[in-house]
Amino acid sequence: MTYDNPALTVVTDEVHPGALRWRSPSNIALVKYWGKYGDQLPRNVSVSFTLQNAATDTTLHYAPRRGSGAGVDVQLQLAGIPEPKFTARTQTYLERLLPVYPFLRQLELRIETQNSFPHSAGIASSASGMSALALCLVSLEEQLFEPLPDRAAFLRKASYLARLGSGSACRSVYGGAAVWGRVPDLSDSSEAYAVSIAEQLHPTFRSYHDDILLVSRSEKVVSSRAGHGLMEQNPYAPPRYAQANARSQEMLGLLQRGDTERFGQLLESEALTLHALMMSSQPAYTLIEPNTLHVTNLLRQFRSETGYPVYFTLDAGPNVHLLYPEAVAGPTKRFIREHLLPYCEDRMYLADRVGTGPEQLEVNQTTPA
Ligand code: DP6
Repeated sequence: MTYDNPALTVVTDEVHPGALRWRSPSNIALVKYWGKYGDQLPRNVSVSFTLQNAATDTTLHYAPRRGSGAGVDVQLQLAGIPEPKFTARTQTYLERLLPVYPFLRQLELRIETQNSFPHSAGIASSASGMSALALCLVSLEEQLFEPLPDRAAFLRKASYLARLGSGSACRSVYGGAAVWGRVPDLSDSSEAYAVSIAEQLHPTFRSYHDDILLVSRSEKVVSSRAGHGLMEQNPYAPPRYAQANARSQEMLGLLQRGDTERFGQLLESEALTLHALMMSSQPAYTLIEPNTLHVTNLLRQFRSETGYPVYFTLDAGPNVHLLYPEAVAGPTKRFIREHLLPYCEDRMYLADRVGTGPEQLEVNQTTPA
């Protein structure tokens, strides 16, 4: 499927300058996307929780473009500072979207963006950042042309556009939880965009916690993009893709039933499998650090002593996400503060939880807490 539409051009004299603003959250994959093909299509199905607090707040200012040029005219500021690197990346992204939105070439675009978490926190901002920008773009389409038929159509298009910027970003446009890739039980699921599974979440998972322990805030030595590329030669890739598809299917059932134990087993195996794939790539690389293992070992001990269903997952980095139900939040937070913070850089962690999804904001509104 495609959203390409050569008819979406404007008469520049008729465009009034304006701005649109969205706050969009990050997400944590429960079953990981690792390996892609073609135009940002995933090699396997992935499933995620959308977070609440880790988010990007993006304002897109637009005005008719004076003069003409082949590419897209865009400038980007991150937390008030011009960012040539992000500007270049955003320009490349917007130019890739020209078949969908040819009008982007006719405008002058200024983007102001900021993350709710410190830039140096070692938390990937591509999912929240690309989804926030994609939502602004679909709002811009509605502003300049017709409204999309309904909210579902709006979010689907935003998910499609976010995917072209960063695969995992396509899952961030929905609150609760999302699935990206084709699953037999979900008739509208697709590799081209994610779909919401919020309605199917058991109440236990709707209020799930995700505390992110910042083991290290340094930059990744290998980008996710390069990591995906290395999967092409990885001898374990074919069985991995089959495993992830089967696990996604199983995960959907667990999320519906509220099975926190099996959920946790799958969650941890997914994290370790992701890092095993990195370690078995050629060239091999390691993103976990000694303190990652200190944290996960202590967590296993805590679990066996208390019986609480607190499990970990990892992104493409050393930081540890601890996922647990509201019912054990008190003692788990105490355990984190007393036993795990010594393994975190500057004793930092971010308390997050399953969230309600992106929100459109007034341009002059102060950021909601
Ligand atoms: C480990 O979405 O960052 O977080 O599509 O190249 O932008 P690109 O990759 P990206 O990869 C994320 C991988 C992951 C797992 C996941 O979120 O599913």
